[in-house]
Amino acid sequence: EKGGYPDFMLKEIYDQPRTVRDTLAGRLVNGHLQFDELALTPEELAAIDRVYIIACGTSYHAGLIAKNLIEMWSRIPCEVEVASEFRYRNPIITPSTLVVAVSQSGETADTLAAIRDARIKGAKVFGITNVVGSPVARESDGVIYIKANKEIAVAATKSFLGQVAALTMLAMLLGQIKGGLTTAQIRMLFRELADTALQIEQILADTSAIDEAAAACKDATSALFIGRGIGATICYEGALKLKEISYLHAEAYAAGEMKHGPIALLHEGFPVIAVATKSPTYDKVVSNIQESKARGALIVAIATEGDEDIKKHADYVIYVPKVRDCFSAITASVPLQLFARSIALLRGCDVDQPRNLAKSVTVE
Ligand code: F6R
Repeated sequence: EKGGYPDFMLKEIYDQPRTVRDTLAGRLVNGHLQFDELALTPEELAAIDRVYIIACGTSYHAGLIAKNLIEMWSRIPCEVEVASEFRYRNPIITPSTLVVAVSQSGETADTLAAIRDARIKGAKVFGITNVVGSPVARESDGVIYIKANKEIAVAATKSFLGQVAALTMLAMLLGQIKGGLTTAQIRMLFRELADTALQIEQILADTSAIDEAAAACKDATSALFIGRGIGATICYEGALKLKEISYLHAEAYAAGEMKHGPIALLHEGFPVIAVATKSPTYDKVVSNIQESKARGALIVAIATEGDEDIKKHADYVIYVPKVRDCFSAITASVPLQLFARSIALLRGCDVDQPRNLAKSVTVE
């Protein structure tokens, strides 16, 4: 059943190129994006003036990435909220509000409750899920199914990349509708998005640098993940993955926040995992790495292939292929998944069945 892999988590990590390909297959027809269900009229779509992405856990992190893309391409204000908060406050919802619910299982109690509440208040709801016919799919006005197939390991990996791919297409659709993206740009972006499947394969072909970095960090009691922009969003996911499967305490911070508190934690050998891929804020991340290094931190950098300079600042460098910054979440998340798994195994943990967790959270 594990197809020759030692655990489901690894099998599912290696299933990610296929997940991305299948999630994109058949979606772009004559320059127009096609979704599984779309009960919204072009007029309703054009009228959208606010987006809330609601989700829990890893799915929430996929939402954080999507916020950047939605605002960049469509200029529609977008907020991302954990469903358990959204449902108990009084968010600003009008008929031109789009609520995007992201849920692998399609049955998370808080996410479902948030959808129901939003619909009562008049919002349009778009669901992104892995499970056909799930409550999230049934109760939404539009659906994009991610084609992750069944995910067995409790820690979400391939479903996360599928969600990011689906949310990227939704952001492209909104960009096209609002005039921020031309059809030619949609085609180009879609092609580059599809190419990430190949880039993930490249990462998976040699994971030795990831294992080396993991071995250096395995005995730590705490770790910090830092990055900026898209890099910050995947730090949240990297820290969650590490916590949930290795029980090593980890936190993620937007790197610019270091000076406002977290840097006090650092001491000799404290692991700082920095997402330092090429982006408009690359130099700023490098400064944060230098500041951490000066306090004795052990630096693991996720960097863009060809960046030799980063070796001067980091103890361990994990390279990922060069992609447009907006797609770096897809590529750079993969080494963070493998890093967490590697540490968990070195610490003797069951990576598929972490303690205290269930695959689907159908009660509040
Ligand atoms: C973490 C993880 C959880 C889920 C969360 C939401 O690896 O899997 O944080 O992401 O419980 O689940 P879904 O996406 O099914 O709503």
